Amino acid sequence: MAISPPTNRLWWKDPIHGIELFWIVIAFLWGLFMFFFMIAWHFIGQQNLSNETYKVQPSAYVERVDAFAEEFQVVDAAGKPVEEDGVPVVRPPAGGDAYIVARLWEFWPILELKKGESYRIHLSSADWQHGFSLQPTNINISIHPGYEHIITLTPTESGTFGIVCNEFCGVGHHTMTGRVRVVD
Ligand code: CUA
Repeated sequence: MAISPPTNRLWWKDPIHGIELFWIVIAFLWGLFMFFFMIAWHFIGQQNLSNETYKVQPSAYVERVDAFAEEFQVVDAAGKPVEEDGVPVVRPPAGGDAYIVARLWEFWPILELKKGESYRIHLSSADWQHGFSLQPTNINISIHPGYEHIITLTPTESGTFGIVCNEFCGVGHHTMTGRVRVVD
C-alpha cells in the first residue's frame, strides 16, 4: 500500500521477488525479439514501407525537381507542354528517377508513370513538414525539409492516384493535394 509508509524503509535493498524477476526477464526477451523482428517485417509485413533517406538542402532539392520537370515534361501533339491546373505533367523514364517536391500548398509536379515499370520516387519538402499519403494505396510517409526519401515502387494498376497532405501545415493544408497518373 502506498498510502502508508513502508514498514521497511530500506525496501529497495530487499532481494527481488522471483515472480517479479521472471516477468522482467520475459519483458526484456520480448523486447529483444520485437527489435530483431523489425528485419522480418521488412520482408513479410505488408504495412512497412522500405525507403532510403538522405540529407539534402531544400534549395538544392528544388533545383533538381525543376531540372527533372523541364527535361521530362509531357508535350502534346502541337509541341505544347502539358499542364493540369498550372502544374506540369512529367513522364519520367521507365526504371528511372522521379521527383516530387512538397511545399505550401502543393505537390509538384504531376507524375505520369507506366504500369509494370519500376521507379525511384524522390520526395522532399521545400519549406515545412508535410505528409505524403498516396490514395488509395498504403503509402504514407512524413516529408521533412532537409531530408530526401526515395521510395522504389512498381505500379501494378493504371489510373489516377491522389496525393493528400496529412500533416497539418497551415491555412492551406486542406487544399494540399497532388496526383500521380499510371498509364498502361
Ligand atoms: Cu502540407 Cu498539410
